[in-house]
Amino acid sequence: MANLSMNKPLRSMLAIAKQKLMPVVVINDVSQAEPLREALKQGGIFTAEVTLRTPNAIRIIQIMSEDPDFCVGAGTVLSSRDADKAQSAGAQFVVSPGLSIALVDECDRAAMPYFPGVATPTEIQRARDLGFSELKFFPAEALGGAQYLKAVVAPFHDMKFIPTGGINLTNVDLYLALPQVLAVGGSWIVSERLLATGNFSAITSFTREAVAQMNSHSS
Ligand code: 3PG
Repeated sequence: MANLSMNKPLRSMLAIAKQKLMPVVVINDVSQAEPLREALKQGGIFTAEVTLRTPNAIRIIQIMSEDPDFCVGAGTVLSSRDADKAQSAGAQFVVSPGLSIALVDECDRAAMPYFPGVATPTEIQRARDLGFSELKFFPAEALGGAQYLKAVVAPFHDMKFIPTGGINLTNVDLYLALPQVLAVGGSWIVSERLLATGNFSAITSFTREAVAQMNSHSS
């Protein structure tokens, strides 16, 4: 992130690939945006997907993106209007649960990195036909976990995936062991319970633990 002239799309891709862990955050309390960002940074995570599942999510993206060293994306984006609002607020990437042509068009127009969700070989091939090489894989555990992901992505050797859905510290290693996994996402890193109690020191500790586990895996 030292190269300030680097364009935002490239920066967000590098941040995700470097981080390998993507907190998927459901947050509505605007006063928690800054403390959450700082808690994640102290724990060693510099990127997060803030889901548009709460009324204040866009405002929270705006606050979290005020720090140039932190890369915030918008998750659960279901319309081009929401993608546009997220980008205006400072989001550096967009994630959706499935593949939306409206979002493909909007993110293309806005030069915004977009990670559509896929679950089957047909969906992966369709996304590939549209020019995508990095996709969200959702809902990973319900689909059959790392074993299914390994089997389904085998023919798509030139594609990378960000699995989410039911992933936690007990199964994350199985996903990170797959070469086609760009990063692993999930809400387990910032739990609703810790956010509800405003326990940011616990969020930092938990983040550190997740980063340490990931590092031990890659060493
Ligand atoms: C997502 O939007 O990626 C998922 O809801 C995250 O799934 P999880 O809450 O099971 O981690």
